[in-house]
Amino acid sequence: MPTHDDVDVFLTTTLVGDDPILDATLRAQHDAGLPAIEVAPVNAKFLHLLTRIAGARRVLEIGTLGGYSTIWFARAVGDGGRVVTIEAEAVNADLARSNLARAGVSDRVEVRVGRGADVLPTLASEEPFDLVFIDADKESNTIYLDWAARLGRPGTVVVLDNVVRGGEVADAATADTKVRGARRGVEMLGADPRFDATALQTLDRKGWDGVAVAIVVDAVAGPGA
Ligand code: DHB
Ligand code: MG
Repeated sequence: MPTHDDVDVFLTTTLVGDDPILDATLRAQHDAGLPAIEVAPVNAKFLHLLTRIAGARRVLEIGTLGGYSTIWFARAVGDGGRVVTIEAEAVNADLARSNLARAGVSDRVEVRVGRGADVLPTLASEEPFDLVFIDADKESNTIYLDWAARLGRPGTVVVLDNVVRGGEVADAATADTKVRGARRGVEMLGADPRFDATALQTLDRKGWDGVAVAIVVDAVAGPGA
């Protein structure tokens, strides 16, 4: 009986394929000792397609790591598009810049170093973002969701990574701060009138997790307006 890993290999091989630039990015992350917590290839391509489906030209990413998902977003926004990506660790940001340069997308990506809570307010004077991907410290999910709504506009797509965490999100009594962050993020998406949201469980090479997808709605007019 095939396992979910076999399915991940089949789907990745058939639908995502091989890309020497992305392979080099993952090798560089691995060689630098970064944890292998970047989005799985099938998930990265989902984000890439979602960006194109939404026609997003301005993407905000919170949590760059080594820039793997950033490259997928940069390719999705195309020439003249813009990606702002926020990374708390300077060494990760340096690695991401080198990976982005190898991918030939440095001109459309700005890597901002700092904690999300410090960097996000500095983006308030910019044009609204069309898509926001939140994939940083899970404890700050609600802060990031709040900024995603503020820095977006009605119609902005918001994606929140790691909302299932091996099923632990369903444990209301959990003491794990990352799981609590995931749980609070989902609860905020359900309760905050600025969002209309759902979430999908995923099973890929990183195991059992999930992704929440939301749209920013006009909080006065309400969902579906
Ligand atoms: C962790 C963070 C991630 O963004 C992820 O996709 C998987 C795991 C973590 O910090 O444990
Ligand atoms: Mg993640």
